[in-house]
Amino acid sequence: MGKPAKIFVCTRGKKCPKRGSEKILEELQAEIERQGAEESVEVKGCKCLDLCKKGPVVVVLPSKVKYGRVETSDCAEIIKTHKAGEDTVERLVIKKKKK
Ligand code: FES
Repeated sequence: MGKPAKIFVCTRGKKCPKRGSEKILEELQAEIERQGAEESVEVKGCKCLDLCKKGPVVVVLPSKVKYGRVETSDCAEIIKTHKAGEDTVERLVIKKKKK
């Protein structure tokens, strides 16, 4: 099995915590337990990811995919997806602005 995916939730920025990022972190942790994903997914709080308008923001390593406007109801799907491997939850991905 590969390295575990690391999920970081912006809990130390100025905006995301006001939009409930602590709850997202808790819910992701609860889902890891529910799905028995401890071996394949880790979740931690982190500092501002400079995408404050899209908060609560979540970034997943190693793919560096970023999710925005994450809700507690999305957490089960996020864990399920990253437990399985390389896939992403497409509907939550923050699209890069075209230059
Ligand atoms: S406050 Fe969360 S990305 Fe900036």
